[in-house]
Amino acid sequence: MKSSLITGGAGFVGTNLADRLLQQGQRVVVLDDLSRAGVSDNLTWLRQSHGERLQVEVGDVRDAALVRRALHRVDEVFHFAAQVAVTTSVTSPLHDFGVNAVGTLTLLEELRRIDEPPPLLFTSTNKVYGKCAGIEVARRDGRYAPTDPGVERYGLGEDLPLQFTSPYGCSKGAADQYVLDYADTYALPAVVFRMSCIYGPHQCGNEDQGWVAHFLKQALAGEPVTLYGDGRQVRDILYVEDLLDAMQAAMEHVDALTGQAFNMGGGPDSTVSLLELLELIGELGSAPEVQHGDWRVGDQRYYVSDTRRFSDATGWAAKTAPEQGVRLLHEWLGSSRLLRARAS
Ligand SMILES: NC(=O)c1ccc[n+]([C@@H]2O[C@H](COP(=O)([O-])OP(=O)(O)OC[C@H]3O[C@@H](n4cnc5c(N)ncnc54)[C@H](O)[C@@H]3O)[C@@H](O)[C@H]2O)c1
Repeated sequence: MKSSLITGGAGFVGTNLADRLLQQGQRVVVLDDLSRAGVSDNLTWLRQSHGERLQVEVGDVRDAALVRRALHRVDEVFHFAAQVAVTTSVTSPLHDFGVNAVGTLTLLEELRRIDEPPPLLFTSTNKVYGKCAGIEVARRDGRYAPTDPGVERYGLGEDLPLQFTSPYGCSKGAADQYVLDYADTYALPAVVFRMSCIYGPHQCGNEDQGWVAHFLKQALAGEPVTLYGDGRQVRDILYVEDLLDAMQAAMEHVDALTGQAFNMGGGPDSTVSLLELLELIGELGSAPEVQHGDWRVGDQRYYVSDTRRFSDATGWAAKTAPEQGVRLLHEWLGSSRLLRARAS
């Protein structure tokens, strides 16, 4: 039976991936310290849904002995465990560096001890491109847009210079570069995804990270949201099921892809500004009341992924339009609120 290790496996992406792999009949090891508020519920749900093929190691990814144990007889590794919020990284940069950079290096070192190490997929971030040097943006039709028609058509590719911004950008960027270097120096099979905004069920979205889920949760609870900046900043959003397809494609093609980083997001066909997302939520029910705050550190005006390099290599394409994905997440959040209300 194939076996996969998912660090951060109780988190949003990890839970969705664990569920999919378990449904496909695999064994899954989840390593997570449960530090993200709300993720224990994900773990309870995974345990209830799948029973014994799920093995759980509760602990810190910086604990080398624990990582070694979790790696025992696994065929592939998905490394998601991270301090994920830019805001937290600004107030606690040492903690952020420890989890994201030292945690990743700890895992890489444990993989290096293995004779034929299993392939690794690491989830990096678009924040490694910082302010997207050289990309001019202007306000057009109520949102930010690049002035270069090529960028507008295809998004931002992997050739964009690295420019780590914010402590989170630095720690994830360091980890991203270490993973690529271990692929080169030690022939470790490894692929990096530089991800834009991912959204979907089991996301413990809050003001600091996971804004699509956060906006929807606030709307359902009748609570306000704060827009930092003017709300016209644009992102490509990717529904989590499409991301999982990409992750499985990356593992399938790992021999050809190893040592490479790929931009991963919904691309130019799946963009929304914060204000447009609020409109979309309004169409599903009622949009939350809006308050305003200053721009936050590292907040890009425009970031849209050019995913052609990955698509050309694997045939992958995102399938879920924002309208459809946001509706699916809205339904899931509504039903899980109902279940919680019944249980209390
Ligand atoms: N969700 C997105 O939009 C997005 C965008 C870009 C990159 N990423 C990256 O993708 C990965 C998954 O993101 P997510 O949205 O599922 O986040 P998440 O917060 O839901 O999951 C991360 C998990 O890591 C765990 N964790 C934190 N510190 C740990 C530690 N020291 N040891 C072990 N576990 C620890 C948390 O408890 C949590 O369950 C992260 O690496 C994140 O940086 C996510």
